[in-house]
Amino acid sequence: MIIRKATKSNLENLVYLNSVDGYPWECEMYKYDFKRFMERGDTFLILENGGAAQGYISITNKITKDSSKLILLDKSELANFENAQKIHLLSVRKTEHRNGYGTALMEKAIDNIKEAGKSHVYLFVPPENTKAISFYSSLDFQVKGIYPNKYTAGKHALFIGKKL
Ligand SMILES: CC(C)(COP(=O)(O)OP(=O)(O)OC[C@H]1O[C@@H](n2cnc3c(N)ncnc32)[C@H](O)[C@@H]1OP(=O)(O)O)[C@@H](O)C(=O)NCCC(=O)NCCS
Repeated sequence: MIIRKATKSNLENLVYLNSVDGYPWECEMYKYDFKRFMERGDTFLILENGGAAQGYISITNKITKDSSKLILLDKSELANFENAQKIHLLSVRKTEHRNGYGTALMEKAIDNIKEAGKSHVYLFVPPENTKAISFYSSLDFQVKGIYPNKYTAGKHALFIGKKL
């Protein structure tokens, strides 16, 4: 198994993996989307095993577009944002779930975040994505707050994170 930085030459792999990760809600992504995220400076890591790409994770600097909309359990959490990065996208091929690939990708992403000198990691997850929430719990992420109407009207996001 190897985990390496993805480049624009991997856009098709990323589109494909996103389409086969079993995510049950409408979330189609195109080459254009991944290209745009790379061009704004996001880091993409891709996991390969058995000669095929099995999953990817992306890391971004921006925690949220508008932190005033975030309802935090503890408002002092805001002070950590300048010392944090966010996991934006995470996807493992559905036929390979529960093989440890998600954990391996997250561990590598956290190494990258620490190497960038950051002390906290955050991410958003829809509350109905219970599988992902169990996954993040297994990695000691904790609920930090909620972002109302993040996805569309009435579709809220849980804001979770941890200190590294
Ligand atoms: C979330 C996701 C990345 C997890 O990847 P994975 O490779 O299956 O995760 P791992 O094998 O490393 O799982 C580690 C632990 O997380 C927990 N976990 C993972 N999937 C779980 C599930 N479906 N149900 C309950 N717990 C789960 C378990 O504790 C698991 O350990 P175990 O298998 O020894 O019991 C994967 O399910 C996925 O790609 N989902 C679709 C895309 C998605 O929802 N992305 C997140 C968007 S916010």
